[in-house]
Amino acid sequence: MVAAASSSSAASVPRTGQEIRKAFLRFYEERGHKVITSASLIPEDPTVLLTIAGMLPFKPIFLGQQERPCPRVTSSQNCIRTNDIENVGRTTRHHTFFEMLGNFSFGDYFKQQAIEWAWQLITEVYGINSKNLVVSVFREDEEAEEIWRDVVGMNPKRIIRMDEADNFWTSGSTGPCGPCSEIYYDFKPELGNEEIELKDNNRFLEFYNLVFIQHNRNLEGTLTPLADRNIDTGMGLERMAQILQNVPNNYETDLIFPLIKAGASIAGVDYYQLDNSAKTSLKVIGDHSRAITQLVCDGVTASNFGRGYVLRRLLRRVVRHGRLLGIYKPFLVTMGQASIALLQDVHPSILKRKNAILAELEREEARFLETLERGEKLLAEMLNSKPAHISGDQAFELYDTYGFPLELTQEIAEERGLSVDLSGFAVAMEQQRQRAKAAATNIDLTLQDAIDQLVEHQDATAFEGYQLLEQSSCVQAMAVNGRPAVSASAGDQVQIILDTTPFYGEGGGQVGDRGLLSGADVSVSIKYVSRVRDVFVHAGLIRWGELAVGDVVRAQVDQVCRRRIQANHTATHLLQAALKQVVDPDISQAGSLVDFDRLRFDFHAPKAVTVKQLERIETLINDWIAEAHSLIVEEMAIDQAKAAGAIAMFGDKYDDVVRVVDVPGVSMELCSGTHVVNTAEISLFKIVAESSVAAGIRRIEAVAGSSVLAYFNERDLVVKQLGECLKTQPNEIVGRVLNMRDELRNTSKALVTARAELAVAKSAALALKATVVGVFQVLVERLDGVDGAGLQGAAQNLVAQLGEGAAVVLGGLPDSKNQGKVILVAAFGRQVVAAQQQAGEFIGSIAKLCDGGGGGHPHLAQAGGRDGMALDAALDTARQELNSKLILKSH
Ligand code: SER
Repeated sequence: MVAAASSSSAASVPRTGQEIRKAFLRFYEERGHKVITSASLIPEDPTVLLTIAGMLPFKPIFLGQQERPCPRVTSSQNCIRTNDIENVGRTTRHHTFFEMLGNFSFGDYFKQQAIEWAWQLITEVYGINSKNLVVSVFREDEEAEEIWRDVVGMNPKRIIRMDEADNFWTSGSTGPCGPCSEIYYDFKPELGNEEIELKDNNRFLEFYNLVFIQHNRNLEGTLTPLADRNIDTGMGLERMAQILQNVPNNYETDLIFPLIKAGASIAGVDYYQLDNSAKTSLKVIGDHSRAITQLVCDGVTASNFGRGYVLRRLLRRVVRHGRLLGIYKPFLVTMGQASIALLQDVHPSILKRKNAILAELEREEARFLETLERGEKLLAEMLNSKPAHISGDQAFELYDTYGFPLELTQEIAEERGLSVDLSGFAVAMEQQRQRAKAAATNIDLTLQDAIDQLVEHQDATAFEGYQLLEQSSCVQAMAVNGRPAVSASAGDQVQIILDTTPFYGEGGGQVGDRGLLSGADVSVSIKYVSRVRDVFVHAGLIRWGELAVGDVVRAQVDQVCRRRIQANHTATHLLQAALKQVVDPDISQAGSLVDFDRLRFDFHAPKAVTVKQLERIETLINDWIAEAHSLIVEEMAIDQAKAAGAIAMFGDKYDDVVRVVDVPGVSMELCSGTHVVNTAEISLFKIVAESSVAAGIRRIEAVAGSSVLAYFNERDLVVKQLGECLKTQPNEIVGRVLNMRDELRNTSKALVTARAELAVAKSAALALKATVVGVFQVLVERLDGVDGAGLQGAAQNLVAQLGEGAAVVLGGLPDSKNQGKVILVAAFGRQVVAAQQQAGEFIGSIAKLCDGGGGGHPHLAQAGGRDGMALDAALDTARQELNSKLILKSH
């Protein structure tokens, strides 16, 4: 397919991805460019989530904010774009991760040199025949067109002018930008030059973009010239590899195909024998495996926001597509190893991170597999009943009960040609929120019955969790899938009672611990621990193996989770102390929730806590945290505790001996919960909301410890997204929104005026349509898209034009899409009124025909109706009635 431009270079045409990359960098190095290694996928530029183009690391240089390291550089930059993720594997050329080869000039060479070198590189180094090349230039860029035509000698018919949408490049919506010229490969040159349609992806592939950076675009879209004229180019390495390796798509190049082969071999299939959808799955696996490996290499870890979410989403898609191919066992470590083997070509440093990368892939895959197994089974059952679509409730059940991501439900349903009712999902989500609000706990009665039976003859569990987070315990009794039982095996949902436990059982507002029970033959993940009387019930799932009553297991509390709960619990005590100090010493607790990721404190207070008070409370608590108070926790007689000033919950019954949690000098409370050893462990406290829960009861919601970071990350993402939507920096968002609000008000006002003016202008032409009825003139017309004031203005204007003998009726739909709103207006001249015709009465009777009513003065009146379909007939009636009434008055 590829013919060399000159026979002498044919032998050395680069073919492999590595050769193509090397040849590019060497070509520009020989022309004075410094070779720069790829920057991280995590950009320094805070306005973008990930590095999306080769120029991103150089943005500050283009903008003159940073010294240029040298006048010209070249790089092969790792990039990730996720805007077209659904297209990956389905088209020939979409990627998430890809490498962009680029040459850059910072105020050094410009357009002509960039074009000449690009041409030389493509035709001489890569050996591409000029008959396979087409270029596009920006509509207004005469200069670029002349260079391609007169300097390079390109056939003018193969230089295509394109408009701004295609040939003006900006990274995002603001920043350095300029017209560009793109170079396309033509797979079918035999089709000639007459009908070149560059958007035809079967024929053309854009592979090299030359951007002539010379402006800075601001938020309003205004372009300001930059001090220097610069060059930014980008060549898709995978695309050039497709061309030079003569393969049908990017995925079958040596840059990705080894990963497809690795996936195929795990699945035990032959790629070439597969149908298209299975091939797509392998392509997704190939593409995404590189992406997740490089993301983790650059320090991203899976989470539910920002970059972490991008990683999680890509990784889950790999697993999902693996399952479509029949891969049910974990395989990401193998894919990660294969990706590292490929990527180390460019960045040997990836080897240093090998263990960390593989560990993260393994961990996240395991987490997801657990979720998937449960969710997929249920979804398959739903799909087997051949529904017309997946209802919102079903999607929500998968999401809420099984932690199954919505987009996966969508994807799987789509594979069967079914849609998911997204608005139904949103409704179900909202209902759940309401339910959760109404009843903080949802008690499953049948399960509760089983648990009651279970604990009936049990002794109190010995709780060791104030001192120990891990110990040996013996299984006393258990329920399996809701029934008392003596043994359980893998996959069973269990409730377990132990003789002694380090797990905290829900109580005093503090949630139960999570963790693990393990033995030589069994592993049980404990999701929640509750207390029935003094018996602790450990609820969880047997991950593998068998468990029987009488077995001895190692009980281990999830320490990270417990530490977070403790930070929130001690913070709740500090909050109560701060409220007493700042708002009112008599404030008393009405309830509380201490979870691992948040805390909630309800208290009796007649009115809201002010913003200023909330600020003081926050500062005070953060000061106490920083002061590093060591807690003293002691048991003492209740009277002694009360005498020492310990706060007790009003109305609660206490034993004679109580546990007192003392933050010396700050707070002293009776409490059986678990706490930090020193307030410094809390590290940070932040109030999230203050609200009313019932008459006289206020609620403060807050986060403490590591949850604060999660909270800020989530907020930060919203701010960034808002910034992107509004095309502005975070600190300018409020100003921008206020401006937009003012603009909107002004625009609305201007629109009302413009509409009225338009109505008057339109009505001027209507005057000609008036009919003479004796000594009167009658004009009845329809005028849509005008509000009441506009119609009134127009009708009055018409009477002014036609004279005092005019009877004008105008009717219309102010919004042509809304048939339910009709406006009717009548304006009668003095002579008409003198002839006993009243605009108000008249228009009221006409409005009835449109299911409405109204009226007004004899000279001018307005009415409304609800039936737009009846408007034309009503106007006909109006015309006939006026004609017949006024003709009588003329005699
Ligand atoms: N910045 C341009 C692009 O991404 C050229 O490098 O296409």
